[in-house]
Amino acid sequence: MSTRKCVFWSLNKDSHTHTQHQHRQEERHRPWHTLGTHEGWTIVEVFECIAAPKGAIQINHSCERICPLSAEPGLMSQFTDAEKEAMKEEAGIEACTFVKSGMRIGIGTGSTVKYTILELGRRIREEGLEIAGIPTSDATEKLSIEQSIPMLDWSECDQLDLVIDGADEFDHDLHLIKGGGGALLREKIVAESSGGMIVVADASKRVEVLGAFPLPIEVNPYGWEQTKRRIESICAGPVRLRGTNYITDNGN
Ligand code: A5P
Repeated sequence: MSTRKCVFWSLNKDSHTHTQHQHRQEERHRPWHTLGTHEGWTIVEVFECIAAPKGAIQINHSCERICPLSAEPGLMSQFTDAEKEAMKEEAGIEACTFVKSGMRIGIGTGSTVKYTILELGRRIREEGLEIAGIPTSDATEKLSIEQSIPMLDWSECDQLDLVIDGADEFDHDLHLIKGGGGALLREKIVAESSGGMIVVADASKRVEVLGAFPLPIEVNPYGWEQTKRRIESICAGPVRLRGTNYITDNGN
């Protein structure tokens, strides 16, 4: 398996000392460093946005200015809903700086990626960005089309340059829980077909140990009771259906 780059974007509460509008006007310095590899992926953690004077934008590969996340794991309540929404918006938009014309993009699902889609649409309209995307859900496809992002399907594309997707939880080693938006199957097919992945997750999703958010599993409706028993036999903890009639985009 070739080495792929996973950029993990996690924002810091302290980065919201100025307004979103001001923030977008400023160039930012993006310190990151490589944490290691996991199943063929190179994991790169981006720690925070630091406002820098206009013109001073650069990506620091030397790791000299790495700052620790200020958010304490498992303290989601330290953020207000407005702060969480602002962090989602900032992370979703910031991920777009990795998108260049000519790329084929996997477009994830959720309330964070929504801001990515809106930003990609803005860049298509205002900056002439030329990309095409494969969506991970019907909802993402609908919003992408509304934003005039050209859509591809797998009959015309066998490899993506980059996927941008959200996550429900992450731990210190950047293990993720994903799938809370119900796009479990498609998002994995899209990620596996991509040369790189950006996970947009704000600091409120940081936990010490994964599992505060229930691990979503997509199962075929046929014999789901038997599948549930099999999962119970290999997993500690309760296994339950999501709602009474939750159906994914794939009919599962
Ligand atoms: C989709 O099934 C999920 O993996 C989402 O990416 C995840 O639930 C994050 O969604 P939010 O950005 O809405 O929190």
